[in-house]
Amino acid sequence: MARSALLNVMVQAALKAGKSLSRDFGEVQNLQVSVKGPGDFVSQADFKAEKIVHDELMKARPTYGFMGEESAEEKGTDGAHRWIVDPLDGTTNFLHGIPQFAVSIALERNGEVVAGVIFNPATDELFTAEKGGGAFMNDRRIRVAARRVLSDCVIGSGVPHLGRGNHGKYLVELRHVMGEVAGIRRFGAAALDLAYVAAGRLDGFWESGLSPWDVAAGLILIREAGGFVSDMKGTTDIFGSGDVVAGNELIHKALVDVANRPVPTR
Ligand code: IPD
Ligand code: CA
Ligand code: CA
Repeated sequence: MARSALLNVMVQAALKAGKSLSRDFGEVQNLQVSVKGPGDFVSQADFKAEKIVHDELMKARPTYGFMGEESAEEKGTDGAHRWIVDPLDGTTNFLHGIPQFAVSIALERNGEVVAGVIFNPATDELFTAEKGGGAFMNDRRIRVAARRVLSDCVIGSGVPHLGRGNHGKYLVELRHVMGEVAGIRRFGAAALDLAYVAAGRLDGFWESGLSPWDVAAGLILIREAGGFVSDMKGTTDIFGSGDVVAGNELIHKALVDVANRPVPTR
């Protein structure tokens, strides 16, 4: 599989940041025992990884804009291109020594995501996609799952928690979806959840309250893997709404329908 020069830059940046996260993840295991826990250490790991990604990307394309979770947005002199980066998606997992986290890097051109890389250094799984070029996991082509009915499907989701999200609304969605599917999973790293949909591991996914860096790379992975992705209403305003619903054509539509059912009266 031939990667463009730009995708190569993104992959190199993700691998380099991944190496740094891996080292710190090893340390986190040792810090678990203290009462204070590894919280501050993990924020440092986060910043370090973002700096690595930032410096690699900006060295290769100094005029592009840069939006990263851990720093103020840089506009860039090239108005058409913007990097969108989550240096550590799955922070809570990382903090708890759970090896489900990733570096996520997307490239946006004129408002459209055209390339994405998601790398989990703990499993050495590298997900890549470029517009028109298909989606890959470690050089193997990936496709969304082909299941046609929700009753056969395992669906991923993101669950709101203390201080985050609309708990009541989520419980209504969950109540509707859980009654229709074979299983629900909450893995705790939205970027990887979307990569898993692209790879056919999860049949679908939904979550609200996400930021562009959580979803940007996953969007193109899913589309290039033959899947569909939208906000909760079925429109493409994912960055604006913060919602994401994903799956193959049938499962995506079914999830949008089920998640939008009205609040039950009893
Ligand atoms: C979070 C993870 C999590 C999702 C949250 C995100 P972070 O990102 O993707 O799965 O449920 O909404 O904020 O904070 O670990 O980068
Ligand atoms: Ca994130
Ligand atoms: Ca993050």
